Amino acid sequence: MHDRGHEMVVFSGVKPSGGLTLGNYLGAIRNFVELQHRARCYFCVVDLHALTVPQDPEKLRAWTLDLARLYMACGLDPTVCTIFIQSHVPAHAQLSWLLECMTYVGELRRMTQFKEKSRQHEVVTTGLMTYPVLMAADILLYDATHVPVGEDQKQHLELCRDVAQRFNNRFGPTFVVPEPYIPPRQAGGRIMSLTDPTKKMAKSDDEPDSYILLTDPPDVVRAKIRRATTDAGREVRYDPEEKPGIANLMVIMSLCTGRSLEEIAGQYDGYARFKNDVADAVIATLEPIQKRYRQQEEEGLAAIERVLAEGAERAEAVASRKLAEVQEKMGLLRRGCP
Ligand code: TYM
Repeated sequence: MHDRGHEMVVFSGVKPSGGLTLGNYLGAIRNFVELQHRARCYFCVVDLHALTVPQDPEKLRAWTLDLARLYMACGLDPTVCTIFIQSHVPAHAQLSWLLECMTYVGELRRMTQFKEKSRQHEVVTTGLMTYPVLMAADILLYDATHVPVGEDQKQHLELCRDVAQRFNNRFGPTFVVPEPYIPPRQAGGRIMSLTDPTKKMAKSDDEPDSYILLTDPPDVVRAKIRRATTDAGREVRYDPEEKPGIANLMVIMSLCTGRSLEEIAGQYDGYARFKNDVADAVIATLEPIQKRYRQQEEEGLAAIERVLAEGAERAEAVASRKLAEVQEKMGLLRRGCP
């Protein structure tokens, strides 16, 4: 029997928006891989979240499947963790509605990501605003104790905790209030753009040189790192204020090699050799991922479909129980039973 009070339960998700960046990997997925061996883990491809901005339907479908493959290529093992597609478990959208009725418009308007994204898009959908509520529903359905994410998701997680607490106060203990599992910045919590190291690395960036995709071939990785913006000096030291470009490359190198920032700083007296070594480190990190990714593709559609069907079934069993509990507490009438 599980003692639920002590069990670590992990939930996290990634949007299918066309591949994964090195930022996604170093900030989040690397931690998923580590956590799967010591916690009950649910890793979701959040296709409903992708719909908050316009998507091409065929592309979205392809990216969704591809992201599930990438999860496994990064080392997630469907025999020890649950991998599934968000829209396959309807309880996510259902709980989201119920929680929307407990979340204030002011709270959502304050979200930094909402403010940024609503500036980028001409029309702002309601979904873009309620996005963090759906995210809260994702997490709360599974009694997740820990949520591994990058620094940019911290504010959404705080909202999730507030809504969970509000619900528990009003209706009695129902949700586990989750803890963030966010690496500090110098440990990958925020990997920056290669071309503008004051912005985070994101694949939504118009400039493909600004991000490294996990599927980028070695020569592309090397060229992007060689072109990465640095300052005019030649000193390799960790100073995110004065030397944001170099600091970012140092963090990347440190995470890819396991060497400390101090150790790296002491070794270079110019940027060319440093950048070359950063490229080597990234290429070596990506190599096993790319190898497993190719194997995934060779295994064909049936294999991945089986993983996702089993994942959805396991997730649904947990999620539907929590949803029923919430519906009951909020006063909804059960179908067929007065
Ligand atoms: P998404 O798809 O934008 O990003 C996936 C994960 O990658 C992290 N990340 C980064 N970390 C460090 N440096 C970067 N440059 C960087 N870019 C992205 C993100 O913090 C995230 O952990 N709303 C979420 C998805 C989501 C979710 C959830 C997460 C939906 N429901 C429930 C946790 C729990 C998002 O859009 O992530």
